[in-house]
Amino acid sequence: MTGRDDQDDSTPENYFGASVAGRYDEAHTGMFDPGVVDPAVDFLAELAGDGAALELGIGTGRIALPLARRGVRVHGIELSTAMVEQLRAKPGADALEVTIGDFATTTVDGVFSLAYLVFNTINNLTTQDAQVACFRNVAAHLGPGGCFVIEVGVPALRRLPYGETFHAFNLSEMHVGIDEYDVANQGLVSHHYTAVGGTFERRSIPFRYVWPSELDLMARLAGMTLRERWSSWQREPFDSESRKHISVWETLL
Ligand SMILES: C[S@@+](CC[C@H](N)C(=O)[O-])C[C@H]1O[C@@H](n2cnc3c(N)ncnc32)[C@H](O)[C@@H]1O
Repeated sequence: MTGRDDQDDSTPENYFGASVAGRYDEAHTGMFDPGVVDPAVDFLAELAGDGAALELGIGTGRIALPLARRGVRVHGIELSTAMVEQLRAKPGADALEVTIGDFATTTVDGVFSLAYLVFNTINNLTTQDAQVACFRNVAAHLGPGGCFVIEVGVPALRRLPYGETFHAFNLSEMHVGIDEYDVANQGLVSHHYTAVGGTFERRSIPFRYVWPSELDLMARLAGMTLRERWSSWQREPFDSESRKHISVWETLL
């Protein structure tokens, strides 16, 4: 099942169609916990300052809605109309502008002090070219001194012995999650088997994992430099054991 909905051949495949979008918030309740959301929103609101923010892959508004409640003007780019329908049904959604399109290439009007891409969503761009294009697209939307923030996991290759390609990351009564690695191509397919109505539905989503240093190079190609890198929204240090990073690149003043 891909969840593919309204799109033509020039846009990336949409893995967040109606059935996925309808269950998104419920399936990720932990990510909607105030203990997870509030530090991210604090971090992003501080960087946005008096300017506007651009969220790439705004989804159902997990971060954009609370950020807008802080008084930040937020514009989102999103591929899935079904995710945006879920967002539009929520209180406060009127404050958000959303453009349907691929965030690697879609442009919107306005100059932004902040662009952000959270919850591993840079990995949804499955080629290096598309990830590079995303940085260039962001840079074209930021004003001088504007910041681009990415939250993404550090590739977990240390879990994968030579000769192995599968890593089970979850095993419960309701969900089995297995990552399938294609190391030569920095590819990763996440297979999810989820219990729905007495059976297991399978959903397999392709990603391109990307290294922190590679992201720094993409930023340089787009005219930005690394300003901060942390292992959490609370600004804990990033080190060799960090499982994820929050990186901030900025445009020249
Ligand atoms: C993991 S969800 C994150 C949603 C939201 N940012 C959050 O933190 O809950 C990824 C979102 O990015 C969207 N997305 C994936 N690839 C995209 C692309 N190339 N252009 C625009 N949106 C994309 C998906 O449709 C989905 O809504």
